[in-house]
Amino acid sequence: MSDHMNEGASTPVGPDGVFTLALVKSGKQLQVPADQTALQVLESAGIDVPMSCGQGICGTCLTRVVGGVPDHRDMYLSGEEQDANDQFTPCCSRSKNAVLMLDL
Ligand code: FES
Repeated sequence: MSDHMNEGASTPVGPDGVFTLALVKSGKQLQVPADQTALQVLESAGIDVPMSCGQGICGTCLTRVVGGVPDHRDMYLSGEEQDANDQFTPCCSRSKNAVLMLDL
């Protein structure tokens, strides 16, 4: 992972809410615009993440986070699980940092 990515994982996300998903396994970097969910962006890039409710209720889309801090917007994880910042629900949650690193 480049220094640039590591830096982005500690830089707060800008006011426009746009952030980058850095996929550590596939080496891809995907930008998530304000009007799209992380899951939509992953799907358009051909990355298959299982999903069901699309609203942060079921936990089907749960994805491992390896860097950066998710902006949790789900109702599935407990407060404690959210605070661990090692997984997030891409169907509705976003990122608090300019770069969110995923185990994909
Ligand atoms: S698809 Fe149900 S929580 Fe994401």
